[in-house]
Amino acid sequence: MRRIALLVVVVVMVANLVVCTLPPSPPADGQTAPVFGDKIPPGYRDWKLISVAREKGDLNDIRAKLGNDVAIKAYREGKLPFPDGTIIARLAWSYVPLEESKEAFGRLQSYVAGPPTKGGVQFMIKDSRKYASTGGWGFAQFNDGKPTNVAVNSCFSCHVVVKARDFVFTRYAP
Ligand code: HEC
Repeated sequence: MRRIALLVVVVVMVANLVVCTLPPSPPADGQTAPVFGDKIPPGYRDWKLISVAREKGDLNDIRAKLGNDVAIKAYREGKLPFPDGTIIARLAWSYVPLEESKEAFGRLQSYVAGPPTKGGVQFMIKDSRKYASTGGWGFAQFNDGKPTNVAVNSCFSCHVVVKARDFVFTRYAP
């Protein structure tokens, strides 16, 4: 009996191992899915700063764009298109007043990053073969660390505006 129980445990462990190591299958065109797997690239929060942005209106947020080493090198060398392996991260936070600035300046002066916004972390990853149908870029969005299902084309159809800059809006801020 104990042997059978042990065997069951081993079988389950092996099955888990197989499932966990299977590569994520790329979704078909326009399918709603996290586009390149469902994992946030490790260490992205320590990547170098490309630039910042501020969204007005409904979005009302403040953003940072970070790049992995491949991205930063390409940006600094003015290289277009971006090479495979490039990843650009876009982080967005709500845009809030810094209460302490009232005391410091005698008026509410400073506006800073508050809590992350919904869908606050987005990525573009370059793999010209895998994502050939969307300009060589995979798009992904995360909410609270969890992947959100987005229609690939909803990202791409807007980024197509900057096709001449390899679908990337953000310029490097030296
Ligand atoms: C309506 C147009 C629009 C849509 C839809 C859109 N983006 Fe963008 N995206 C922009 C603009 C404009 C910028 C540059 C300014 C900014 O960051 O707000 C940008 C910037 C980015 C950046 C930083 C690199 C760059 O191109 O500047 C990433 C990464 C990104 N978007 C990912 C995504 C993902 C993932 C989706 C889909 C979930 C998406 N975007 C949907 C317009 C769009």
